Amino acid sequence: MASIYIDETAGSDETGKGTQEQPYQTLAFALYSHSDALLLIRKDPNSEYEEPTQSALKKAKKGADGIEKKRKKAEELAERDAQQKKEERERREKVLEESKKIVLEEDSSLPAATKSKIVNLAELRGKRVRVSGWVHRLRDQKGIIFIVLRDGTGYLQCVLSGLTAQTYSALTLTIESTVELVGTLQPVPEGKTAPGGHELSVDFWQVLGAAPGGDDAFTNRLNEKSDPSILADLRHLVLRGETASAVLKLRAALLNAFRDALVSHDLIEVTPPCLVQTQVEGGATLFKLDYYGQPTFLTQSSQLYLETCLPALGDVFCVQESFRAENSHTRRHLSEYTHLEAELAFIKFEDLMDHIESIICETVDRLLANPRTAALIQQLNPGFTAPVRPFMRLSYVDAIKWLNEHSIQHEAEDAEGNVIKNDDGTSKMVDHVVGDDIAEAAERRMTDILGCPIFLHGFPAELKAFYMKKVPGAGADGHVFTESCDLLMPGVGEIVGGSMRISDMDELFAAYKREGIDPSPYYWFTDQRKYGTCEHGGYGLGVERFLAWLANRYTVRECSLYPRWPGRATP
Ligand code: 4AD
Repeated sequence: MASIYIDETAGSDETGKGTQEQPYQTLAFALYSHSDALLLIRKDPNSEYEEPTQSALKKAKKGADGIEKKRKKAEELAERDAQQKKEERERREKVLEESKKIVLEEDSSLPAATKSKIVNLAELRGKRVRVSGWVHRLRDQKGIIFIVLRDGTGYLQCVLSGLTAQTYSALTLTIESTVELVGTLQPVPEGKTAPGGHELSVDFWQVLGAAPGGDDAFTNRLNEKSDPSILADLRHLVLRGETASAVLKLRAALLNAFRDALVSHDLIEVTPPCLVQTQVEGGATLFKLDYYGQPTFLTQSSQLYLETCLPALGDVFCVQESFRAENSHTRRHLSEYTHLEAELAFIKFEDLMDHIESIICETVDRLLANPRTAALIQQLNPGFTAPVRPFMRLSYVDAIKWLNEHSIQHEAEDAEGNVIKNDDGTSKMVDHVVGDDIAEAAERRMTDILGCPIFLHGFPAELKAFYMKKVPGAGADGHVFTESCDLLMPGVGEIVGGSMRISDMDELFAAYKREGIDPSPYYWFTDQRKYGTCEHGGYGLGVERFLAWLANRYTVRECSLYPRWPGRATP
């Protein structure tokens, strides 16, 4: 007779096998599973296996009967469940089969329907209208189908009832399918809400392109819990969401508002090239490519080209993609970003900062004055208010003092630029000194503590690009400062970088030399100093950074249609 082992402490009825190595836990279970075996039981691994007493066996018998009863009941339940499912399936198949017989036809005796985008429906209340779009949301409530339709211009609640809700298409409709719906636009019933305050009572409709259901259904490919890398791969589907599309709508309005503000200040828009053979912001961040056998770069900034437009067109601006080969994975760096740049002639440094402040405030005012864009801002950034003018102006030297007074330090580095460690492995932190590049973390903390837009100005020349105009005379500790400014915004940090430019030819040649730049490919830029130079300045604004501030987005990646960052150039 086979022996079956039970260990009341170390055994398990779920994973045990009744062997010495894997004993069961209860006598009842052992009896239930092996009624004619020799049962051997022990209290715990420290005691010996023994045959159970008669009274223990009697008790276990009752337990085994209980287990058998439970098993039978579970089996019955499973059978009943399977039967119910089968009946439900058959019922659905029958309903679906029947539904195929229902053929909807548009009633030609009804008033002709006006084709409209959702955004223009308010004027068509009470009328028969025709709308097309994507099924954004779908709900079946006791045979009445509610669709929230999306056409890019807005959302519309549509109600399918009676025969319109009984067709095969209605019963198999899926989210993200495209549909055409015809019906009467009615105000929503008292006490109910819907986008626009109205809903479409549908009398005729058809599916134009069915989206898959089941495993491949939209909501199975993408939902709130999806991993960031999946969201990045499926950016084309993410864009259909309410938040992502609202950000892009606001972006479009923002670019329009910027253009309106700039044009009202007599700037004219130009479109500089993306393929260039000169650097602006340092060779380290250039994307290089082969251009018919010649080394060429993707532009870092259109500034130098804008400078050439001043004598031809007066003050100019552009909205152009800039490219930076920075291996930065921060939430404010992209490899390709939309760069709004402007250049102004015959100005002083103060005029430049006044102009930047005006353009930003007038752009925000324009957005808030339009109810549609104001609603987008409120949706994405509830409680947003326009920044207060004038913006704070803080010199670089004062900022260094401020950081030290507020004990905001930076990591110490050795001569090779390696971070110096303390004995406990943490980074050694030190105070800032004039000449330090204020790092992103320190800059962000300062901006967030001050909590308002800040013009940080007068950076040391050695930290800045070759073209920047110097403040006359050497400053503190022999440093040479520049007429440069960064505009910092709470939550994001630097959104604008600008400066006055070198206007003197000799100074420009000295700058080329200092930076090790060969002047020959810059001949067209140098000519600007030769044929009628002028005092001038300009700036570049990162559109995604500005939008991240305006729409309170965590990262600039949310503010770009198809963001690119190191390692990512799809979709
Ligand atoms: O400060 P930057 O490098 O300045 C220039 O390129 C000047 N030539 C512009 C000019 O004066 N015409 O860049 C300007 C702005 C930054 O303030 C920032 O908002 C944005 O461009 N920017 C970036 N945005 C996203 N990702 C990046 N990698 C960015 N690099 C700069």
